[in-house]
Amino acid sequence: SGMFTYDPGYTSTASCESKITFIDGENSELRYRGYDITDLAGKHSFLDVSYLLMRGKLPTPEASKNFDLEIRHRSFLNEGIIRLFEALPDGAHPMATMGAATMALAAFYKDHLHLEDEDAFKMMRRRILAKMPVIAAMAYRNSIGTPLIYPDVNRYFTENFLYMLRAYPGGRMKYLGDGKNDEIKQVEIDALDAILTLHADHEQNASTTTVRNVGSTEAHPYVAIASGISALWGSAHGGANEKVMDQLKLIGDVKNVPTYIAKAKDRNDPFRLMGFGHRVYKNRDPRAETLKALQDKLKEELNLDSKLLDIAHAVEQAALSDDYFKERGLYPNIDFYSGVILTALKIPIEMFTPIFVIGRTPGWLAQWSELKQDPKHKIARPRQLYTGN
Ligand code: CMC
Repeated sequence: SGMFTYDPGYTSTASCESKITFIDGENSELRYRGYDITDLAGKHSFLDVSYLLMRGKLPTPEASKNFDLEIRHRSFLNEGIIRLFEALPDGAHPMATMGAATMALAAFYKDHLHLEDEDAFKMMRRRILAKMPVIAAMAYRNSIGTPLIYPDVNRYFTENFLYMLRAYPGGRMKYLGDGKNDEIKQVEIDALDAILTLHADHEQNASTTTVRNVGSTEAHPYVAIASGISALWGSAHGGANEKVMDQLKLIGDVKNVPTYIAKAKDRNDPFRLMGFGHRVYKNRDPRAETLKALQDKLKEELNLDSKLLDIAHAVEQAALSDDYFKERGLYPNIDFYSGVILTALKIPIEMFTPIFVIGRTPGWLAQWSELKQDPKHKIARPRQLYTGN
């Protein structure tokens, strides 16, 4: 009771009007600006999809080329940010470093506190989008103490990110044998590009809501994006992709699956099956479906880890046929399937959530822009039901 609607976790509160992303949780449908994600992932580049989210339409071939060039051009980081990396210890989680570096961008680009200028507004968005994979790759290299690699403007966004993770300083290393060189295959670029597209927006999820909330106070846009990174890191949200992989490794063998399913069902055990369940999808997650198809397609080509795949498959089968999961509408979500593919791309586990950040950045930027352009927008300021004395 009380004067206000009590809605913990905002399960039934619409916080805004939006034209960006549509989800039908009953029918497993997800659309960006009217386009079904199955018609976008793997069919349009991640940068074109980013343009679509931010500008409302897919770019013409010329606009696409210009956007791509502009993103390459803006990919460099001020050297001051590199000194910030140096202040952080070995073993720092790349998400912590990314949050700090994105926040620090506000110190380098002060002008964006005043964004009446349409061009400044668009440049601000392109700048963050361009720098995010660079920040992520440098955060990783810094965490393991390898020399930082600068972005290569001759490479497309997604290829450049793989390059920055893998490259040996001072040139190419070709002859170390399988898995020990920095060669980047087109199939790897395409797979990662599709994964980024599937993460690009998801309407008012926790991190996007955070970006909008911080944006609603008129805070600097880069600070709003940094707060999105913080919200995404949690294991109930983007951090789940890292935890899924930890969990598959913990299960270790198909024969142990029933034990962990039982733990997940035990109401006295806090253990949850990571990569299962979703606030909006009480039916299949269309992003997971698309990723599963991609996984099947790439099984041979990318030499996916068959042991991990077998465990994942057994977990999925056990959960899907179990009443506990059925009654609650718990299906595998996007985070359940991304890990096996990312592992085949030789991406370290601690980079899974940073990849979610790179993918979600255009969504955050589109949502932040929509908020700013919405004449009805107000500072986010919910009320409470006071239960003290
Ligand atoms: N394993 C076991 N039980 C679960 C799970 C799970 N993964 N997820 C939900 N439940 C149970 C939960 O205990 C509750 O049972 P009961 O009604 O008996 O109390 C019921 O299902 C409803 O769960 P909830 O926590 O009230 O649902 P929610 O909408 O608040 O939470 C969720 C959604 C995604 C946080 C949750 O399903 C979860 O923690 N999943 C595991 C983490 C995960 O995979 N997160 C990634 C989400 S997709 C990527 C993204 O968009 O970030």
